Amino acid sequence: MQTLTTTASLRESIQAQRALGKRIAFVPTMGNLHDGHLQLVRQARALADCVVVSIFVNPMQFGPNEDFATYPRTRDADTAALQAEGVDLLFVPAVEELYTGSLDEVTRVEVPGFEGDLCGRSRPGFFTGIATVVTGLFNRVQPDVAVFGEKDFQQLVMIRRMVRDLCMPIEVHGVATMREPDGLAMSSRNSYLDAGQRGRAIRLYQVLCEVAASLQAGSREYEVLEQKAMQSLGEAGFEPDYVSVREPSGLRLPGPDAGQLVVLAAATLGQTRLIDNISLSIT
Ligand code: PAF
Repeated sequence: MQTLTTTASLRESIQAQRALGKRIAFVPTMGNLHDGHLQLVRQARALADCVVVSIFVNPMQFGPNEDFATYPRTRDADTAALQAEGVDLLFVPAVEELYTGSLDEVTRVEVPGFEGDLCGRSRPGFFTGIATVVTGLFNRVQPDVAVFGEKDFQQLVMIRRMVRDLCMPIEVHGVATMREPDGLAMSSRNSYLDAGQRGRAIRLYQVLCEVAASLQAGSREYEVLEQKAMQSLGEAGFEPDYVSVREPSGLRLPGPDAGQLVVLAAATLGQTRLIDNISLSIT
């Protein structure tokens, strides 16, 4: 595995792969890799000949009171894990390499509708920060295919929209959420939970399963289900941000006859914001 820190060296290595006729898959990450990330890498490997992974803790997607400074940076362990997965190129740029000016002045990419909805409501600038950095990374790597986790469902829908709207010649693949044995979605932020919180964290997934079961049983009272789920999360010690039933392709509010649904939730436990979702087909 080659580790590259500059756009110029990355481009040179990718050109060499292209000259060999290789198809390029790309997995952008912020590091602190867990099995969920490695699953993305395995999917990338199955879809292409050359796998490129980036590790970049993107300051633009963190709010002023969020955990940018303390976000776990585990470069040595991440490098070893990616090496073991047979990754070809690892891109680890410094902030100045990705953002050529100050963050306030640099060109931004905004996908309409995401900043004010779901996670975007309580995290201003979050989705614009992601769209901007992913565009910058896509322009550097120019992959044939890019792989993202379904755990960040809103992010995945936004990236698909951005790729479509800006006619980026990239296939976007979503990979199912990896879960701990008790069902908790794998996340770098799970490491912030203390033992008591870790025990309670599983309620997030259980509550989503309860909403999904009610939908499968025929309930279409979306708002009632959402309110009940928020209450259950509150009782379990979470501070719920939202529980929302949506249609999965565009995250619009579903009508009563919707056949495909996704239930999304975000809630804070102690200082840790957790998100999760469940997709379901109404049979
Ligand atoms: O999902 C993430 O880890 C990040 O949002 C991403 C896509 C790497 C952009 O910084």
